[in-house]
Amino acid sequence: MAVLPIRLVPDPVLRQKAKRVRSVNGSIHKLISDMIETMYAAPGVGLAAPQVGVSLRVIVIGLPEEEEIILINPEVVRRRGERVVNEGCLSLPGYVGQIKRAESVTVKGRDRDGREVRIKADELLAQALEHEIDHINGRLYTDHLESKDDFHKIEPEEINEEGL
Ligand code: NI
Repeated sequence: MAVLPIRLVPDPVLRQKAKRVRSVNGSIHKLISDMIETMYAAPGVGLAAPQVGVSLRVIVIGLPEEEEIILINPEVVRRRGERVVNEGCLSLPGYVGQIKRAESVTVKGRDRDGREVRIKADELLAQALEHEIDHINGRLYTDHLESKDDFHKIEPEEINEEGL
């Protein structure tokens, strides 16, 4: 496993629509392992493959005290409700924005063995899933800002947002 450099805005790979994974093979498994190590090293609670320069539809999420969630070709199939959240991104360090996310989501995709899975989530997991799936579609949380007043630079000692 290896900690990979995290691509930062305005790296163009962050704006590409990532390609679907056709077969879950050894190179995908290596990518997943490296992404998990990179996410924890950041430290962060979620990471999408474009953030390590790989334009493929792979995301990992590692919430505190929970087993990692690995999703290949994930898509949001249902969104319910709306809530205002503070959000940051490992590709945009030192900033935080206030945006609207769904209260809960249903996501489908494949796990690391290529098996189809469906996840229903709320709270931080729902937010992380929407954030990482945005990444593989070339979107950033800043695209959801309604006003530039909702976007702030933060001092290093204020950093307490979960990195996504
Ligand atoms: Ni992010």
